[in-house]
Amino acid sequence: MTDWHKSDWRAKPRVQMPDYTDAAALAEVEARLSQYPPLVFAGEARKLKRHLGAASRGEAFLLQGGDCAEAFDQFSADAIRDTFKVMLQMAMVLTYGAKVPVVKVGRMAGQFAKPRSAPTEVLNGVELPSYRGDIINDLAFTPESRIPDPTRMLQAYTQAAATLNLLRAFSTGGFADVNRVHSWTLGFTDDAKAAKYREMASRIQDTLDFMAAAGMTAETQHELATVEFYTSHEALLLEYEEALTRLDSTSGNWLAGSGHMIWIGDRTRQPDGAHVEFARGVLNPIGLKCGPSMESDDLKRLMATLNPENEAGRLTLIARFGAGKVGDHLPRLIKTVREEGANVVWVCDPMHGNTIKSATGYKTRPFENVLREVQEFFAVHRAEGTIPGGVHFEMTGQDVTECTGGMRALSDENLSDRYHTACDPRLNASQSLELAFLVAEELVAMREARAPAAKAV
Ligand code: PEP
Ligand code: CO
Repeated sequence: MTDWHKSDWRAKPRVQMPDYTDAAALAEVEARLSQYPPLVFAGEARKLKRHLGAASRGEAFLLQGGDCAEAFDQFSADAIRDTFKVMLQMAMVLTYGAKVPVVKVGRMAGQFAKPRSAPTEVLNGVELPSYRGDIINDLAFTPESRIPDPTRMLQAYTQAAATLNLLRAFSTGGFADVNRVHSWTLGFTDDAKAAKYREMASRIQDTLDFMAAAGMTAETQHELATVEFYTSHEALLLEYEEALTRLDSTSGNWLAGSGHMIWIGDRTRQPDGAHVEFARGVLNPIGLKCGPSMESDDLKRLMATLNPENEAGRLTLIARFGAGKVGDHLPRLIKTVREEGANVVWVCDPMHGNTIKSATGYKTRPFENVLREVQEFFAVHRAEGTIPGGVHFEMTGQDVTECTGGMRALSDENLSDRYHTACDPRLNASQSLELAFLVAEELVAMREARAPAAKAV
């Protein structure tokens, strides 16, 4: 893109970004980050874009998940492994259950900056600036902690690089070998979904035994031994994004080197704003969060700005309306997309429209509302004849108690047991698996509704 430069966003109105007080320290961090290697390669971002193009046609399905906010003090190999493992389990449920290739994208290795609904927080009569994610300031409730510190960008870069390194090792080093499908079962085996997963794993093992007997093993079939795993995050802190943007010499296009896919949040999607200006110029696949306030005219402008060539896989619309509201908003946005003849991937984020405050004071999400929003999303697509291309959610491999409900029926009183998120409440491993089974069932129902004749054969 010749009329675009990576710093152009600086001339546009910006929201949700920190005001750094020490300009010299900021400039030094930016200069240093600009010298560091990018975390991803342009060819990978293009490959992901092709996979997302397939998802837009119903030939693949996007599974995007991970922390609401990655945190410096929760950084560990075990946490990365467990989230990766749950993603693999969910992908397996979808691949085996719905017979669809799954595009796996983590909210990982860069998901550090958070938009907030209020600029300040009040606790016991004390008002302080809001926490904006570990890349910007610190969660501790003290005036010093809440001052934006640019050097935190360097620590975020280091953590993202180490996370991605481990994910790449897991993806190709044997951990993700499909023959290990049984060993991906997590420690807690006490509920029906875990049993259902183990049953499915046994059936997969059976198929693998048959294939091995026929001469197809992980040694001969690379696809069985490895997975492709991509990273994504909200491109909110534009100083960090700009510093990691690189020119791809093979295509002459710009790459956001901070992750494979980036998205624009529901609060930062102003068509004339800084975030849209940045995202329009990079070659990566772009996500766009669409909440209830997304108007048809804005969506038209955003699609034209972010995907002027109408390239398949370039733009993913991540609908996050809340249970009970999908029917009010999704059909009108589908109509807009149709009118424009735009290529998009329709994805459901059943998390961000379903956040409530529990009776015990915790920010939570009732799991039944999460499931309901997914069902409503599929129902609208069935009625409209359009294609549900994926799901986007906040989850962790840790056995947390942050969302209520699910097979193990977590109540408001249970939330305090293991509530560890730095920002929004996440699904735990068991709830994630339950969600995956539901999505698989919806996909099967979708296909049967579309091709009733095929079923009869
Ligand atoms: C998020 O994905 O964590 C987020 C803040 O989402 P949204 O922009 O949709 O509110
Ligand atoms: Co969130």
